[in-house]
Amino acid sequence: MKIENIQVNKILDSRGEWTIEVEVESEGIKEKASIPSGKSRGSYEAICLDYETIQKNLPYFLKEIENIDFDSSQRFDEFLIERAGKNKEKLGANFVLGLSIAFARIIAKKENLELWKYLKKEYFEKTNTFLREGNKLIINTIGGGVHSFNNLDIQEYWLVSKEKFSENLINIILNTIKTLEEKLPKPLGKNDEGAFCTDFKDNYEPFIYLSQFEEDFELGADIAANQINKKFDWNKVYESLKKLNVIYLEDPYKEDEFENFTNLRFKGFKVIGDDLTVTNVERLKIAIEKKSIDGVIVKPNQIGTIKETFDFVKLAKDNNLFTIFSHRSGETNDNWIIDLGVAFDTDYFKIGVPMQGERVSKWNRLMEIFKNG
Ligand code: PGA
Ligand code: ZN
Repeated sequence: MKIENIQVNKILDSRGEWTIEVEVESEGIKEKASIPSGKSRGSYEAICLDYETIQKNLPYFLKEIENIDFDSSQRFDEFLIERAGKNKEKLGANFVLGLSIAFARIIAKKENLELWKYLKKEYFEKTNTFLREGNKLIINTIGGGVHSFNNLDIQEYWLVSKEKFSENLINIILNTIKTLEEKLPKPLGKNDEGAFCTDFKDNYEPFIYLSQFEEDFELGADIAANQINKKFDWNKVYESLKKLNVIYLEDPYKEDEFENFTNLRFKGFKVIGDDLTVTNVERLKIAIEKKSIDGVIVKPNQIGTIKETFDFVKLAKDNNLFTIFSHRSGETNDNWIIDLGVAFDTDYFKIGVPMQGERVSKWNRLMEIFKNG
């Protein structure tokens, strides 16, 4: 399939900051994808370019691909990976991911398949059975750090569902959030991801509130240690979190401290890489060799294509690591993260609370796939 046209639009994300939407046209079909952006970013993430630079590069890129026939999303992504250069610096990971997803949507449409089904067929099954594993949910309920405006240093306080996604689970989550809202100290606001935001006595107190929901949920946190400049006695912090029955810990140390991650696993936590591994196979290989993690965050815009996202997930699964497909703090209403996560059988989704527009669009897509396949 040849690409006849590409348009890049400047759009707003949920934080009111500029991001891009990419529209691709091929064989008379037009599809779009829009790209979220993170605030708590790892320094090893692929490079994003601004709208003006992407527009300036666009005519040259269009000329270059004019006569190339791409017969699958994988072939197109391979071309993009080669062309975008190191860290996607020549084209920008945001532009590249927009192209990758919009083109996959075109082929899915041509084959009359949902995006997730096309990707599953392309990467795994080569059949039309489309078996699904089901996914658990991680809810960032109380927020701190760079997404918030309160006194908490820890970025995210999680409830991790014991059950897999269903309408019943959504009801449990909605009731839980309502009960929590009534009990939390006032005044109570919401942060970038819709997590509750208020001052607490200390960094541990939010878990006292969350512990009342332990019948349905396990506890976890994204420490996002890269963003914390205050000095802490981290051994003491993790001893305290252990006593509070916290099980999951994302980025408990800074992005190059692989050995500290490893040591924490021996203390009984399930340790997760985000800024540590940045959806990048080379970073993941180091983490595997050093036995640093039990699971990984998967954010396609940290790397730039569906193909590289798949390679990352495959390496994680081959090494018995669980995967968490995740939104970014600055989101759009697009919901491709769900199709990618379902296609690649993610163990968990982290997509915010189901009561804030740009997050709700992901919940509703999950519901749609759950009900209709
Ligand atoms: P970000 O944060 O989307 O702002 O980068 C999310 C996270 O750290 O998991
Ligand atoms: Zn994180």
